[in-house]
Amino acid sequence: MKRLRIGVIYGGRSGEHEVSLASAGAIFANLDRDRYDPVPIKIERDGHWILPDQPPSSESAADTIAQGRAAPRSPQQSSQEIHPIATPGTETMLVLEPGIATTDGPQSHVPVLLSTLTLDMVFPIVHGPYGEDGTLQGLFELANIPYVGAGVLASAVGMDKALMKVVFSEKGLPIVNHETVERPEWQKPSSDVLSRVMDNLKFPLFVKPANQGSSLGISRVTNATSLSAAIDYAARYDRKIIVEEGVTPCREIECAIIGNDIPEASVPGEIITSRDFYDYEAKYLDNRSEVAIPAALSSTELKNITKLAIKAFQSVDCAGMARVDFLVNSDNGQVFVNEINTHPGFTTISMFAKMWNASGVGYSALLDRLIALAFQRHTEKQKIVSTTT
Ligand SMILES: Nc1ncnc2c1ncn2[C@@H]1O[C@H](COP(=O)(O)OP(=O)(O)O)[C@@H](O)[C@H]1O
Ligand SMILES: [Mg+2]
Repeated sequence: MKRLRIGVIYGGRSGEHEVSLASAGAIFANLDRDRYDPVPIKIERDGHWILPDQPPSSESAADTIAQGRAAPRSPQQSSQEIHPIATPGTETMLVLEPGIATTDGPQSHVPVLLSTLTLDMVFPIVHGPYGEDGTLQGLFELANIPYVGAGVLASAVGMDKALMKVVFSEKGLPIVNHETVERPEWQKPSSDVLSRVMDNLKFPLFVKPANQGSSLGISRVTNATSLSAAIDYAARYDRKIIVEEGVTPCREIECAIIGNDIPEASVPGEIITSRDFYDYEAKYLDNRSEVAIPAALSSTELKNITKLAIKAFQSVDCAGMARVDFLVNSDNGQVFVNEINTHPGFTTISMFAKMWNASGVGYSALLDRLIALAFQRHTEKQKIVSTTT
């Protein structure tokens, strides 16, 4: 049987670049080589695409983050730079050269065809903006290449914490009280953002950039004096900021989903954060956060969480996979959907993989299922009619 050529796209321009290297490292280490021929495609921090000779070797986010900090711009050894454009019909992304210098005239700005990269499928695992937010997915749609995971719309809505809440609320999912703030509104001399927030929300507050991940740009604010600095800080990471009422005391429950039209939920897990909240340090670095899988939940709570997780997945029209995260008030049991992640951390020790493992689906089987789901969704899309008669 012909092996499937799968372009695994990783890295990317977001602050989660290093986390993506670890996720991709795990995918390369576990894809069955009898069935798949994976091709590493890396997006550098500055957005350049390269074809490295070797896939990322580490499957540990702590290690890839440490390496990134030690050598933030280390060039990839012997790799070919590529400039992808997408053309349907050939299941090919064209690789272009930016232009050729000629001796008798100015440099041409017309890209020229260098080679083609023919793939049966793409497996993107690029966390955060310019990867998890629909931008990459748009390229695959244009090229008509099958790809793993959420489509353009679900990726974009799942990335934007403000829009996500609009959709969740419309679909009747429980969400925390919040206010959305646009940066220009905040930066106006006569801004009334502070009074709007304090009139409508109770401390503690969580101030977040709407489009980020891995807790980048997020602050927990307990009093009015620190609110302004927290909004300024979040505004460095996005032009849209969201201020939320904090759930306190808070349990963090997560549930993994796979599927297209009939999504399935894993057993939920719980994060017991080592710090005030589950920030970047607690997620990847201090090694003191704990997880409990399955989470200690009554059967009613378990049913409710899995039902809400599936509903959250469907509400944004998600496909393939996602991790849905909940905030649960441990005093009164109130449950809130916090967010959906369409490219969740994907190492073998990430919550997504561990929750599926506890549900009887091992990591390699998970990869097989995601690849099958991507083909299924692609085949379905080919049936869509675009003629007028
Ligand atoms: N409303 C909230 N109440 C309590 N804790 C929160 C709230 N919002 C966020 N947090 C804490 O901040 C962490 C990161 O926030 P989250 O919205 O999940 O952003 P990210 O997409 O960066 O993971 C959560 O895992 C949780 O620890
Ligand atoms: Mg989160």
